[in-house]
Amino acid sequence: MKRIIVTGGLGQIGSELVPFLRDKYGRENVIVADIRAPENVEDVEPFITLDVRDEEKIIKVIKEYNVDTIYHLAAILSARGEQNPQLAFNVNIVGMHNILEAGRKTNIERIMVPSSIAAFGPETPKDNTPNDTVLKPRTMYGVSKVTGELLALYYWEKYGLDVRGVRYPGIISWKAPPGGGTTDYAVEIFYYALKGEKYTCFLREDATLPMMYMPDAIKAITMLAEAPSDNLVHRADFNIAAMSFSPKELVEEIRKYVDFEVEYKPDYRQKIADSWPRSIDDSAARKEWGWNPDYDMASMVKDMVKNLKKKLGL
Ligand SMILES: NC(=O)c1ccc[n+]([C@@H]2O[C@H](COP(=O)([O-])OP(=O)(O)OC[C@H]3O[C@@H](n4cnc5c(N)ncnc54)[C@H](O)[C@@H]3O)[C@@H](O)[C@H]2O)c1
Repeated sequence: MKRIIVTGGLGQIGSELVPFLRDKYGRENVIVADIRAPENVEDVEPFITLDVRDEEKIIKVIKEYNVDTIYHLAAILSARGEQNPQLAFNVNIVGMHNILEAGRKTNIERIMVPSSIAAFGPETPKDNTPNDTVLKPRTMYGVSKVTGELLALYYWEKYGLDVRGVRYPGIISWKAPPGGGTTDYAVEIFYYALKGEKYTCFLREDATLPMMYMPDAIKAITMLAEAPSDNLVHRADFNIAAMSFSPKELVEEIRKYVDFEVEYKPDYRQKIADSWPRSIDDSAARKEWGWNPDYDMASMVKDMVKNLKKKLGL
């Protein structure tokens, strides 16, 4: 029987992954863990307060709840990480090591952990970026993601701990707000557009980046979790792709539904975006576990507009 804990479970991805897993495995079998308290604890129970920097507590929780699977989502994202690299190091690298050690010591069956396109850097080929390529990121977040990928491979080969993960592009969703990444503009902009307010974009209008709609993000990580191990050549470093667009292209697509004004004022996040790929080659994921996305930019925008209108009561 599956007993799952989702660290960082209150975040943008956790907020949608948890309901998906609960539908599949039963509410009581999916435990949400986060360092912060939920707005309304009854809505997310079973919930536990957990700091992933505390290995002893992770082990205690795994034993107490008979956990066999961990979705490790707790992290400090790219933009926030550049504001506080020391915190990003501790949560992302020490936290990841704690999860792996706790998993090893308690014989956890599977650990799912997202990496990111932030694992790439300025020397990486920018178009159709290969799965196996130069990884020299210049953000602490990127450094932590490459470290996580390598630790996952190390624990698999040395201890047989089954750790898997995908390199997410920017994730777009309407349920929970994003947590401080470089692609957050692609979510924020919808709120401004639908309320008819002017949006000031923190990236240049031509800053093309790989993106993905949340249903595909959930599909990817849960598909990989169930893939037969023998088919996997890669472990926690799968490129996955769905769409790539620039702020200007997104604005044009949203304007098919509502008119709104946009101004471009690139800030420190533009430098982060400049070091990332424009598009991703995901052939390894397609070949090893059958990955394919359902949403492109047009179908994502249509769905975002529909759901956000409802959410905002418009
Ligand atoms: N959202 C994206 O666009 C994106 C893109 C690429 C990769 N990812 C990866 O996906 C994972 C989840 O991202 P997200 O977008 O849901 O992030 P988020 O910032 O929305 O959520 C992260 C959660 O972790 C929690 N957290 C922070 N420090 C913690 C600690 N010390 N102990 C326990 N919990 C802690 C936060 O309270 C938050 O709820 C991360 O590994 C992230 O790097 C996300």
